[in-house]
Amino acid sequence: MFIKSLKLKNFRNYTDINLDFNSDKILIIGKNAQGKTNLLEAVYYLSALDSLRANNDSDLIKWGENYCNIKADIQKFDINVELEVNINPPERKKLKVNGLNKNKSSEFISNLSVVCFTVNDLLLLRGTPEDRRKWLDNAISQIFPAYLERLTKYNKIKTQKNNYLKNLKGNLQADTSLLDIWNEQLAITGSNLIFIRLSFLYELQKIASEKHKLISDTETLSVFYNSTIIGDICLNEKFPYGSEYILENFKQKLEEKKQEEIIRAQSIIGAHRDDVSFLINKKDAKKFASQGQQRTVVLALKLAELQLIKEKINTNAILLLDDVLAELDDLRQNFLLDAIGNNTQTIITSVDTLQFKEEYLKNVEIFEIKDNEVIKNKAFF
Ligand SMILES: Nc1ncnc2c1ncn2[C@@H]1O[C@H](COP(=O)(O)OP(=O)(O)OP(=O)(O)O)[C@@H](O)[C@H]1O
Ligand SMILES: [Mg+2]
Repeated sequence: MFIKSLKLKNFRNYTDINLDFNSDKILIIGKNAQGKTNLLEAVYYLSALDSLRANNDSDLIKWGENYCNIKADIQKFDINVELEVNINPPERKKLKVNGLNKNKSSEFISNLSVVCFTVNDLLLLRGTPEDRRKWLDNAISQIFPAYLERLTKYNKIKTQKNNYLKNLKGNLQADTSLLDIWNEQLAITGSNLIFIRLSFLYELQKIASEKHKLISDTETLSVFYNSTIIGDICLNEKFPYGSEYILENFKQKLEEKKQEEIIRAQSIIGAHRDDVSFLINKKDAKKFASQGQQRTVVLALKLAELQLIKEKINTNAILLLDDVLAELDDLRQNFLLDAIGNNTQTIITSVDTLQFKEEYLKNVEIFEIKDNEVIKNKAFF
């Protein structure tokens, strides 16, 4: 797929910009704090309805304004799709596909697939479990858009359960029949999430391990799902568990932890507490791998995401690379640029063009950002 144009109104530092993309290699150049990441964030938002860094949609609105609008023209299998998001709190955000309102996020995000690779991703292994869950949930949503709705549903149930637990004020004698209802619902939605996560990681791991071996030469990568419900699952082995097994365990574990959850007044186990870990040559990469080795794992994962999207939805996702090339050594840079291939539209941000080979620069469309304006810059050719 291909993004043909991007229009932003009151998005971050942009008042009103309109960009037309005519190439599948796009370079966004600009000094620090000019708005390069903001542009990628806008594209990413259309594919995930989630921000790269804001926790709150209203952070995306230009300071001093009360709404923002992101619009893009996408070409997918020779079909043109116009996507539009309007964020205007406290109203619910408006999603439009080809001018028609969409209420379901899955009907919106299914139109645009993006793999985003930022400097923050390089810290994925050292980051928090929440960072890794966010990566995993977004990666799954690119392939299976309905996952996002299930996740939202799960989070709603979890919030209601937490509110209920807070109201109980640690009283173990209270009638907990409502808690049993929340737990039943949490187990049903949560076991489904875990099953989908395991299925995704199982397939991703196969591709990522191959890529990892190619980059690192000799090392082996193993991927684990660390679940508060079913323990540590190695995805390199045979596909582990069916959804029934996960559901039964979910219910049983919630029952076992019921008193503790009442005392602590929070949901202490479930899909929202699970994590992913990576082993290089059977050693936990988070604890033992060098920075370079950790980056290789992330690079292998990102390339695997791209390939898996291609296999599952039969089209190339758009690749967003935010400042990431400068952080990789020559070997990994070349590996990444070679692996992208010609049919993958790639939008790269960078402070300058110095790190790019002349050969690469010949085929790119370059935009320069300065003082909140974007200038299509032909001077580099
Ligand atoms: N909601 C907002 N309204 C107005 N400006 C904002 C908003 N959010 C962020 N900004 C500003 O946007 C500017 C550009 O941010 P961005 O992260 O895109 O820069 P960048 O070009 O990627 O810089 P770097 O090279 O340092 O990564 C920042 O200076 C920030 O203050
Ligand atoms: Mg940036």
